[in-house]
Amino acid sequence: MSAPIIRSLSELRSMVSGWKKSGETVGVVPTMGALHQGHLSLVRAAKEGCDRVIVTIFINPKQFNNPEDYEKYPRTEEDDAQKLSPFDVDAVYVPDGPTMYPEGFATNVSVGGLTDVLCGAHRPGHFDGVATVVSKLFMQTQADRAYFGEKDFQQLQVVTRLAADLDIPIEVIGCPTIREEDGLAMSSRNLLLSDRARVWAPELNAAMEEMADALLSGGDIADTRAKAIARIERAGFTEVEYLDLRACDTLEELNAPTRPARLLAAAWLAGVRLIDNIAVG
Ligand code: PAJ
Repeated sequence: MSAPIIRSLSELRSMVSGWKKSGETVGVVPTMGALHQGHLSLVRAAKEGCDRVIVTIFINPKQFNNPEDYEKYPRTEEDDAQKLSPFDVDAVYVPDGPTMYPEGFATNVSVGGLTDVLCGAHRPGHFDGVATVVSKLFMQTQADRAYFGEKDFQQLQVVTRLAADLDIPIEVIGCPTIREEDGLAMSSRNLLLSDRARVWAPELNAAMEEMADALLSGGDIADTRAKAIARIERAGFTEVEYLDLRACDTLEELNAPTRPARLLAAAWLAGVRLIDNIAVG
């Protein structure tokens, strides 16, 4: 059965207040649409963990630091609704721009520290945009649990931090990255890759896996990074923005996996920015 599409906040609120009155738990899965199996894995987790599930679809202009990137972001609402239909979710919330940011909107949510590095350093304003819209979605849906992918590992940390800092009574749950068979992390942006670029894209993950193995065998960070970057560039990537070993909790840079660590990367392939991260050890 296809889920009701809700476009107004008042409709969403009255629906949710009914559920809450009956003591039902509510889960939210925030997305920007162009749904794939990665998003659907979050929906599955939410269905398992909550009585009611809301999927939100909003391509948030505030988190695009590049207008062209916003313009070319895939918009596939009908297809998305079809992909969601087998999951029997309770609502698909699809607000438009003015519903989310009415005239006069002037508030910005900014998470410090965690956002100074990695994607935060390369995409000015990006995480303020994410933190602002996610705060709004948390308040609007009043959800008890929110499901986010480890695919966007830094985003997961930022959102966890903001919920704690702002005393929003919501549990943020991180779910594993879903990959294509060849290792490429699923992403709405993969739709933008040419056939040729799609063939080479998995080299990013392959080089990261190789680097993680080398680090675990005691390899030097500079040597293993140089080797991985060379492999990524041989596959046709034009720029590796970062390829860092970082602590899972604070995202501080590490030279060796001496505590729970993650390898995180962002790189450009044929005009498309791809990100990935894997656990090391
Ligand atoms: P979007 O890129 O659509 O991703 C929505 C959610 O799906 C995020 O939590 C993301 O981490 C998760 N996701 C994406 N690819 C995944 C994969 N391969 N495996 C597992 N989970 C995956 O992230 C955003 O939208 C936005 O920033 C948003 C949080 C909605 C705020 O606008």
